Amino acid sequence: MEEQSYYTEKLASLGTLAAGVAHEINNPLAIILGFTEILLEKTHPDSEEYDILKTIEKQATNAKRIVENLLSFVRHKEHKEQLVNINDCINTVLDMMNNTIMINNREVKKDLQETLPLIKGDPGELQQVLFNIINNAIYVMKGGGILCISTKYDGHWIIISISDTGCGIPKEHRQRIFDPFFTTKEVGKGTGLGLWVSYNIIKKHNVIITFETKTKEESEKPGTTFIIKLPGER
Ligand SMILES: Nc1ncnc2c1ncn2[C@@H]1O[C@H](COP(=O)(O)OP(=O)(O)OP(=O)(O)O)[C@@H](O)[C@H]1O
Ligand SMILES: [Mg+2]
Repeated sequence: MEEQSYYTEKLASLGTLAAGVAHEINNPLAIILGFTEILLEKTHPDSEEYDILKTIEKQATNAKRIVENLLSFVRHKEHKEQLVNINDCINTVLDMMNNTIMINNREVKKDLQETLPLIKGDPGELQQVLFNIINNAIYVMKGGGILCISTKYDGHWIIISISDTGCGIPKEHRQRIFDPFFTTKEVGKGTGLGLWVSYNIIKKHNVIITFETKTKEESEKPGTTFIIKLPGER
């Protein structure tokens, strides 16, 4: 319990820090976007300068979205349930991450069952879970790989499967990946909170999360698959 409360405290101060940083970044971004817009109005749409400005606008908008996500996540929002289509959540997250996924020879394969029953849940929170899992998957496929995302309904459960062709999770880490602050990323690259946060969200949704993983010592085709099962009632 002592350890837990230490973590909770550490998390709370981390949240405050993240919120502070996000806030500080928001202002310069708004200024960049504002001036870009002014310049765009003064520039001929056929010119090279116009394309450059458009790129600046696009990237600054991306950064703004990341900051907004971070802020909305850190600010404690109440859990708001509504009926959600999990395919929509997946598509939203993939759209948001598209730029990151598509670099470095990564490929996405989507196989979403068309007529899924709706589930009761908080779409923002569910997107957060999907984001964290996909983010981990693309991180381990830095040199390229295939991200497969599928949904299906088996009459009882909606089953979401997210798999990567990355390095797999070594045996000695498997018990720990959902622990707060467990990370194998280098300092400054990861907080080790992604899966812990996801696990906590998932607990609120009566959901089961499991994973299967093989390292290159264990299989010719190493990789990790996260499976999320949600109760779906028609
Ligand atoms: N798809 C995956 N393949 C291999 N290892 C993974 C995968 N997903 C998670 N892990 C392992 O679990 C650890 C914890 O993941 P988690 O998302 O909680 O934190 P993180 O990714 O390290 O940090 P953050 O999410 O803040 O960027 C990772 O550092 C990695 O060692
Ligand atoms: Mg992560």
